[in-house]
Amino acid sequence: MPTPVTRLSSVRLASSLFESSFSSRPAVAASAPGRVNLIGEHTDYNGGPVLPVALERRTAVAAALEDGWFFVSAVDGTVRGVEIDRPLRGDWTDYLVGVVRELRAVRAAPAGARVAVATTLPIGAGLSSSAALTVAAAKALSLLAGRRLGPAQLADVAYRAEHDQVGVHCGRMDQTIAAHAAAGTALLLETATGAMQRVPLPGRIWVVETGVAHRLTGGELNQRRRECEQALARCRELWPGLAHLANLSTDDLPTIEARLPPDLAARARHVVTETVRTRVAADALARGDLGQLGWLLVEGHESLRTDYRSTIPEADAIVELAMDHGAHGARLTGAGWGGSVVVLAPDDESARVMAEISRGFRDRYGREPAVWSTRAASGVRRETVSG
Ligand code: GLA
Repeated sequence: MPTPVTRLSSVRLASSLFESSFSSRPAVAASAPGRVNLIGEHTDYNGGPVLPVALERRTAVAAALEDGWFFVSAVDGTVRGVEIDRPLRGDWTDYLVGVVRELRAVRAAPAGARVAVATTLPIGAGLSSSAALTVAAAKALSLLAGRRLGPAQLADVAYRAEHDQVGVHCGRMDQTIAAHAAAGTALLLETATGAMQRVPLPGRIWVVETGVAHRLTGGELNQRRRECEQALARCRELWPGLAHLANLSTDDLPTIEARLPPDLAARARHVVTETVRTRVAADALARGDLGQLGWLLVEGHESLRTDYRSTIPEADAIVELAMDHGAHGARLTGAGWGGSVVVLAPDDESARVMAEISRGFRDRYGREPAVWSTRAASGVRRETVSG
């Protein structure tokens, strides 16, 4: 059942796209992974913890020096000449322009380049294809400029490209995992301090795509972020000096519920309870207690459904089907309003559980969801372009 595209190399795809588009060979290439977030959703811009895992599916960027900037992606194969200082165009090239601008700010950008991009990640599936692109591009283009940026610098350039340049008010989870991931581990990132801890994740995890595309530039994430800022401002009237919503405790929830408008209280409740769940989940994973981890995932999904209101019926149905058929746990992963569900299932039962999910989903929605599995993979790396 795993889709064979996971076996293709994004680097080979990007290199051959480069050659066919520009009739020359790339000088450098780099790739970075997509991610699933096991748990810790919408906590990264509220000072809380996250627990993401890098996917085997990656995005690759192949590049060579040029006068001016020319971008091509495998999605449509059209070469686009781009002016870095002109207003953004509202398409995928904005992410590359954002990376170039931010690399310039740290003197790590080449003067110009031909750039080819290819990916084995589904786009708009909530699996962080944008951070895979920006982190891989930051690596490839800085190498082209003769600079070797470390993972923290790459993550920072990629974050500012997406947040400050493109204007998606994301947190730092996606760029951090794409830059820092180590194979066979999930990453517990405490976003308030930047502290990172690797947690062994030896088994496979499953991804079920809802097939409902989300576009973060569409505004829901930015709206939730504004609501969290409003909730924090109201909480500061009660607790002056409060740094983040994630610093509140579950004991504070009755006060929050009594004093804040219901929708803002619900957003805060999600952040506070998700913060607790994420830390307990990291402990459960470290102990290999997949049963407890699974239940925390389901509770996290429920909190997204009722308090954060970022799920969609297709995702709710997949979680329900997974639990009805013996999964350890399942949860909508990523920003939401579409995207994918991460499923943890006992190894010897996973094929049956996934078949049941597909069957049940087809009965309700008249189409098969894409279902595939991955092991925890590694982060950004330079790739060789020969061959
Ligand atoms: C998107 C953002 C992340 C994070 C998630 C929700 O993926 O890019 O920073 O906020 O949504 O957890």
